[in-house]
Amino acid sequence: MSQAEAQQRHATLAAQIRAHDHAYYVESRPTISDAAYDTLYRELLDLEKSFPELTTPDSPSQRIGGIPASEFASVRHAAPMLSLDNTYSEGEMREFVRRVQKLLSGEPLAWTVEPKIDGLAVTLRYEHGLLTVGATRGDGATGDDITANLKTIRTVPLRLADANPPVVLEVRGEIYLPAAGFKKLNAEREAAGEEKFANPRNAAAGSLKMLDPKLVAKRPLAFFAYATGQIEGADAPVTQQVLLGWLKTLSFQTPEKLWICASEEELVAAIYELDQLRHGFGYETDGAVIKLNDLAQRERCGATSKAPRWAMAYKYAAEQAETRLRAITIQVGRTGALTPVAELEPVFVAGSTVSRATLHNEEELHRKDIRIGDTVIIEKAGEVIPAVVRVVLEKRPADARAFDFPKTCPECGSKIARTALASEAEAGVVWRCANSDCPAQVRGRLEHWCARGAMDIEGGGEALVAQLVKHGLVLDVAELYQLKLAELAALERMGEKSAQNFIDGVAASKARDLWRLLHGLGIPQIGVGGAKALARKFATLNDLMDAGAPELTAIRDVGEITAAAVVGWFSDPLNHKLIERLGKAGLNFRSELYQPAAAAGPLTGKTLVLTGTLPTLTREQATAKIEAAGGKVSGSVSKKTDYVLAGTDAGSKLEKAEKLGVKVIDEAAFLGLLGS
Ligand code: IVH
Repeated sequence: MSQAEAQQRHATLAAQIRAHDHAYYVESRPTISDAAYDTLYRELLDLEKSFPELTTPDSPSQRIGGIPASEFASVRHAAPMLSLDNTYSEGEMREFVRRVQKLLSGEPLAWTVEPKIDGLAVTLRYEHGLLTVGATRGDGATGDDITANLKTIRTVPLRLADANPPVVLEVRGEIYLPAAGFKKLNAEREAAGEEKFANPRNAAAGSLKMLDPKLVAKRPLAFFAYATGQIEGADAPVTQQVLLGWLKTLSFQTPEKLWICASEEELVAAIYELDQLRHGFGYETDGAVIKLNDLAQRERCGATSKAPRWAMAYKYAAEQAETRLRAITIQVGRTGALTPVAELEPVFVAGSTVSRATLHNEEELHRKDIRIGDTVIIEKAGEVIPAVVRVVLEKRPADARAFDFPKTCPECGSKIARTALASEAEAGVVWRCANSDCPAQVRGRLEHWCARGAMDIEGGGEALVAQLVKHGLVLDVAELYQLKLAELAALERMGEKSAQNFIDGVAASKARDLWRLLHGLGIPQIGVGGAKALARKFATLNDLMDAGAPELTAIRDVGEITAAAVVGWFSDPLNHKLIERLGKAGLNFRSELYQPAAAAGPLTGKTLVLTGTLPTLTREQATAKIEAAGGKVSGSVSKKTDYVLAGTDAGSKLEKAEKLGVKVIDEAAFLGLLGS
């Protein structure tokens, strides 16, 4: 095939695939069989293999996902991404309408009502019709650049369907996970022993945060467009209705229902109607968004720093249902907390069947006077965890009986106490098992360690962890690193292959960055955000362990409570032992997020790699000197390395430095750089 023929054929294939994608994903009206579609797609990929220059950024092949990133870059939004004021009250909604009316001194107004999709706001920037940048909302002024992830989503057009596109068009809308995709994803995770997502919104957020777009491509995410940001080289639409119509012609999916209302009464009716319809939508909605239709009028209303004055979200109350409480069981968590759980007669509410609900704690049980056999009202908003709201007293049977809260841990029989974790909001409310070796706590800690936001060990979910603990193979996280293939493969439902995969996953986790380890340790008060904040401040785990509360509270976002929790955790000799064993197992204790205090030194902005034995300095001393001089130490040589500091017996790192042309220095030259 000649170059010209290939180009012609490529254009035809790309256009066909785009049209089929649009029909399937945006219009839910498939125009081709899966097999025939795959054939077209394969031909396109083959063609791009032979003629790589045909792989343009908007080719359908770009949806498969590119190379993983190590972190997301920040993007400044051309126009700020505001949030919406919201209310659950009809009265407040009416007040809002009157407020706007007053603001516009009684001009005739028209309102739009559209579904509030429960997902994540993103902005897509198109330049000359091509998608250039896609970003999260972030703090409204700057977000994360997640272009590669967004490109994998079929309802995000890679190019606008416009022969004469605007110079710049920012399209804003919501990334969401349809209900069917959410079910499938959670079923897969359960089968793989992974933690399930609490709701579609969390699943969508978790998916967009993944650094490997190939994994994102496997999540059936979708996009609804509902607003624009910067527009250049095209007339801005005059109303919301025109705006949505325009976005639709550009091949975006837009909210499937739109009401135009001229009065408060019409608004109330539309909101009610939407509530009736939304359960049939196939995705989560949590409210109605009311906007002024006319964009010129919006302009005159303006905005506060957080939200426009011309729009409001009316949120629907969580759905309730009545059912019978069959039994109360106790769940023991990672921190030993005993949580009472309602075992219910299955009932359908807010799109799914519910058979368990949380009862929070003993006090809550008493306060609501919940008894076994009672008829109860449960509440659930969409896919969130259901809760028991109250008892229907009129229906209480004569034999309903109060629940005897256990006096000992139902898992291990140990004493329980109302000890609060450092700082717990409801201090003294939660009963906790006092035995830190309680199997339920051990399981919880292991699952937490393996979780994606922590050490990210594939396969380390509920099912496998339960077996490991039951058979006494692993009793704490350090023991994971001593696990033998043969003992693992001997477990039920564990083949040689999955056993090997898990062992490999555990081994790979040794190199994880310090913040993951900190989060995985389950230090009270330290979630992902806190772990990252600590890892930015301290170069190594040992530095963190040496720190006192004043050093910790100096970190933004770390308060006294958190500082006390961290210091307290590290002062426990048992935790010291654990860390020592993790160190012996070869886990990485260095932080790649570490940002030395901006104190500029001769090595500010420089990255050095150490190799071999230096004549006078130990590795630790050299590292300390580098960091004190504003530099960073990295474990491997790359093009970004500024110097390789080499001693005797330097190995492959030296070779690599020479190959990449990275400057190699000895100790004397190093000390010279420092001016010492
Ligand atoms: S308009 C300046 N329309 O709700 C106004 N937002 O609680 C921009 N949302 O941040 C938002 N559906 O993520 C708008 N039809 C819709 C929406 C919608 C969902 C989200 C959006 C926003 C949040 C505010």
